[in-house]
Amino acid sequence: MTARGVFVTGTDTGAGKTHVATTLLRALVTAGVRAAGMKPVAAGIGEGYSVNADVALLAAADGLDLPMSDRNPYAFAPAIAPHLAARDVGVAIDLAVIEAAWRRVAEVADAIVVEGAGGVCVPLGAQFDMLDIARRLQLPVLLVVGVRLGCLNHALLSARAIRERGLHFCGWIANRIEPAMERADDNVAELATRLDAPLIADLRWKRPAAFDIDDLRRLDLAGA
Ligand SMILES: Nc1ncnc2c1ncn2[C@@H]1O[C@H](COP(=O)(O)OP(=O)(O)O)[C@@H](O)[C@H]1O
Ligand SMILES: [Mg+2]
Repeated sequence: MTARGVFVTGTDTGAGKTHVATTLLRALVTAGVRAAGMKPVAAGIGEGYSVNADVALLAAADGLDLPMSDRNPYAFAPAIAPHLAARDVGVAIDLAVIEAAWRRVAEVADAIVVEGAGGVCVPLGAQFDMLDIARRLQLPVLLVVGVRLGCLNHALLSARAIRERGLHFCGWIANRIEPAMERADDNVAELATRLDAPLIADLRWKRPAAFDIDDLRRLDLAGA
């Protein structure tokens, strides 16, 4: 497993993980890095589609011709909690299968952006959850905070879970998903003092997002 990588998690579903992951992938491609997006577990495939929408967006952002089954080894049709969707079809999610997919992707990519589903403690089976993917793949964790009322609690709990698992919390992103939120700046400032990982970017609602080479280096996704 020689590829660099990052695990993109969020305070919740809809926090902006795909927005951040695709923006990271485009920045890597622009920087000349062979980058690939993965979403190992996805639940929700639109009527008439064969691929989860996030997985399709990740693929479009990196432009690599990879099997969708390597990008997304576990794809479930209903948009429900993934372990419930898995159980419904008699599937047990296996981290070894996810790691094998990662290894195949790592043969053609130098940097891999792995998007989780939902937040940090989304169950994947009886004994493990979303952060166990980051642990198995030995990836640093980037937390996308959807800035809205409640985000202080969600972000601090997520950070605690990342630390308790012994994972490297490499940074966080403020994503302003509720532009009308009161005291949004104060919330972001509060998190900047309380989260012991660097704020990588503060993304505005409906403004073009971009990461520069320094951001990629801070996330250890681009060479020195
Ligand atoms: N900063 C932003 N500006 C505009 N739209 C955004 C922004 N962040 C997220 N979105 C939109 O909000 C929705 C949820 O974001 P998404 O990245 O899919 O979240 P997640 O992957 O965490 O579920 C998507 O439709 C996405 O395009
Ligand atoms: Mg997503």
